[in-house]
Amino acid sequence: MFSRFKKPDQSAVRAAAPASTPVRPLSEVAGQPAQPARPTTVARKPMAGGQPPSAQAVAADKEKKRKERMGEIKVELHKRLLDNLNLSALEHATEADLKQEISAIAAEAMDEIGMVLNKDERATLNQELYDEVMGLGPLEPLLKDETVNDILVNGPQQIFVERAGKLTLTDITFKDERHLLRIIDKIVSAVGRRVDESNPYVDARLADGSRFNAMVPPVAVDGSLVSIRKFKKEKLGVDDLVRFGAFTEEMAAYLQAAVATRLNVIVSGGTGSGKTTTLNALSSFIDNHERILTIEDTAELQLQQTHVGRMESRPPNVEGKGAVTQRDCLRNALRMRPDRIIVGETRGEEVIDMLQAMNTGHDGSMTTIHANSARDGISRLENMVAMAGIEMPLKAVRAQIASAVNLIVQASRLQDGSRRMTSITEITGMEGEVISMQEIFRYERLGIQPDGKIIGRFTATGVRSAFADRFKQWGYDLPPSIYEPVGT
Ligand SMILES: Nc1ncnc2c1ncn2[C@@H]1O[C@H](COP(=O)(O)OP(=O)(O)OP(=O)(O)O)[C@@H](O)[C@H]1O
Ligand SMILES: [Mg+2]
Repeated sequence: MFSRFKKPDQSAVRAAAPASTPVRPLSEVAGQPAQPARPTTVARKPMAGGQPPSAQAVAADKEKKRKERMGEIKVELHKRLLDNLNLSALEHATEADLKQEISAIAAEAMDEIGMVLNKDERATLNQELYDEVMGLGPLEPLLKDETVNDILVNGPQQIFVERAGKLTLTDITFKDERHLLRIIDKIVSAVGRRVDESNPYVDARLADGSRFNAMVPPVAVDGSLVSIRKFKKEKLGVDDLVRFGAFTEEMAAYLQAAVATRLNVIVSGGTGSGKTTTLNALSSFIDNHERILTIEDTAELQLQQTHVGRMESRPPNVEGKGAVTQRDCLRNALRMRPDRIIVGETRGEEVIDMLQAMNTGHDGSMTTIHANSARDGISRLENMVAMAGIEMPLKAVRAQIASAVNLIVQASRLQDGSRRMTSITEITGMEGEVISMQEIFRYERLGIQPDGKIIGRFTATGVRSAFADRFKQWGYDLPPSIYEPVGT
């Protein structure tokens, strides 16, 4: 009844298939003894010494064995599906038709081995098989799960996810390294890239906008490493971030004045601390009439303005040619009459052009850097300039930085997973050899709750902004109270 997706001549295909990859009969798989337990990072509770296992433990063991058996059956069923489905017809099949077909093939197979599944198990099995054939297998439910921000795979047996700033190990696994490699291959070939032993890592943007990085063996020692930063259709805006406690309404008012009056802003922070999110939110303060050019390695920013030109750098191809670096994009951007330039993350030689752009009329430009404090951020910039091979005395480099950068906004992911803007610091000039700065707002940690939640508060430092007059001239007359510390 589902002949539309069936391969035309199964027997011919079977006969032609190499004998080295025989499909094992399902009954054989189903009858297999359970595999030895996989190593797990979760420590088991010690059992009462010498006593027979409790009914609960027996049930858990039975459930585990059943799960393992299901895993085996799934692999075999998947092979069977690939064998039976006409893959070229799949492209035109509707999801419903395909699901129906998969469920029919699976039901037939289950009948054959006499395994009875309840309704939920059947639905899960069918969904997993569908994901395996059409999607990204075990990654599929995690990609669909809106609460998951990051997916981190450390070899086939370990998949971590990040939810609300917290990393947790899932019980989802790949069958083995080959399975994981097949999914990686599926992902990268869909975006026209390749990853293998001679080209062992890849950084790409998926069709849905998610950022994807994979590194395969032998460079990845214990199995392929994958990290996915999921693309959020609805980026967190300033209001969301205030609501989530990332910063206060006062800080938002200050940042609005800073961005609208075209200060050059750097968002600094550790990995996954919310730099890109903050940059994106800050960009909402840019006037809709301005021409904005964005440059990123992986296009993540989603600006709301109408006049936005987006650029994405490109790695070299397999022959090592055709690379377009962020620096190339930036240099070209300067010839494209931008009002503002936004570089997703400055991490290399493009720092020179970024500083120059900030110093020469493209004020109001913004970028992020990987650093743990404003001071550290400045050192990072100095290092990047030095690494770019610019022979300049340190004092001159610092003078460049001091006149280019006006504001450093520090984003942090705290121990409890919460993300906060822990400092807003202005750069006010040079004092001798040193860049002078003043912190305007900060997050103060006051303690920690028994459940690990950090107690803290945002406060102004009592220092009036060096740009207060500028803000006023531009029509952003912030009340002096905004600079008063909490509790005074
Ligand atoms: N204040 C916040 N509250 C809740 N979630 C947040 C907050 N800020 C960022 N996130 C979420 O955290 C994840 C990481 O954020 P983001 O991509 O901005 O970090 P990043 O510092 O740019 O990371 P990377 O170093 O990998 O570039 C995203 O999924 C984002 O939606
Ligand atoms: Mg980022």
